[in-house]
Amino acid sequence: MVELPSSVDIPPPPILQPNVFPLDWPPGNPLTYELFELAKREAWDPARLPWDTLRDAKMSAEERLGIGYWFSLLGIFDAAAPPVFAHALVEMYKAHEEDGVRKCFSTILRDELNHEEVCRRASTALLPGNPWGPLRWTPKTALEKAAFHNVQWAYHNGGRYWDGYEKAFKKYRLPILFTSFLMGEVAATTLFHEMSKASTLTVFKETFLAISRDESRHARMALYLAKRTFPTLPQEEKDFITRQLRAGFIFLSMILFKPFPGQFWELPEGFLENHELLQAAAASGGLGILPLAEREDAWRKAMLRVKKTVEEFGIAFPAMPEVGLSGADTPFVDDGIEGIVPVF
Ligand SMILES: [Fe+2]
Ligand SMILES: [Fe+2]
Repeated sequence: MVELPSSVDIPPPPILQPNVFPLDWPPGNPLTYELFELAKREAWDPARLPWDTLRDAKMSAEERLGIGYWFSLLGIFDAAAPPVFAHALVEMYKAHEEDGVRKCFSTILRDELNHEEVCRRASTALLPGNPWGPLRWTPKTALEKAAFHNVQWAYHNGGRYWDGYEKAFKKYRLPILFTSFLMGEVAATTLFHEMSKASTLTVFKETFLAISRDESRHARMALYLAKRTFPTLPQEEKDFITRQLRAGFIFLSMILFKPFPGQFWELPEGFLENHELLQAAAASGGLGILPLAEREDAWRKAMLRVKKTVEEFGIAFPAMPEVGLSGADTPFVDDGIEGIVPVF
């Protein structure tokens, strides 16, 4: 028999907390594992989509530009999503959040890399000269100059979002922050699903369908966190959520509904007009952008779901007159952006 050293009963020094790697996996809510397994089964690879078909698609130069422009704007949101969820994931491990929730967030991060890849593939294929990115080309025509200018300005605001996100992390508890994601995920599920039906270009039909499936899983995770967190909130945190719902609506409207210059968005004169021209070109090229009234309708339906959820827990839903929803008056306060958290 091997003789063991007698030192096995000397305990290590106290384990420092918090540390970033919990070494336990207590059984959590089954839904979290169900969503984790679903994410594995629904994994998709943007590289396998028929991007080649864009080369020969019957589109005018303006239509190609319009679609390239739209994916440039989407990229401002989707290129921010990997760091947003990566940051969240590290914080979750530090907080020793439920294992199933940590796992789901890792799949959300993976999904967001796919969404970013879609923006890369679409914008670089369709912007004139196949540039490396939406800010790396030289516009020549008036419409190209307008597109380039708009993307530069929208990107400026994307940088301001990150500042606010980091500030919010220092100020609010983790579960509160993640409940703010609910509205973005629900809206994105609906809007991308509708776009997949409306698009006449196969590559985008498939892309939007895959994205809407991902977003629907994200929405279910956000809803789980919301329902777990809402019953114990003090009024101050309920108020934060109300403000986040309003701020998130204004922030995400740029891409999913329509831009609202002045409320968060710092945009130059003429932005809106150029945006509408380019978006109309993208729509006529077959991207699948819904007419404004249908976008409004989709938002209203999605937000009604969120409204019902938050009100059940005594959280006021903000007024969104832009899509015909009444609610708490939540004036926009320019406080250096206290932190707009939602992305999708
Ligand atoms: Fe999402
Ligand atoms: Fe996404």
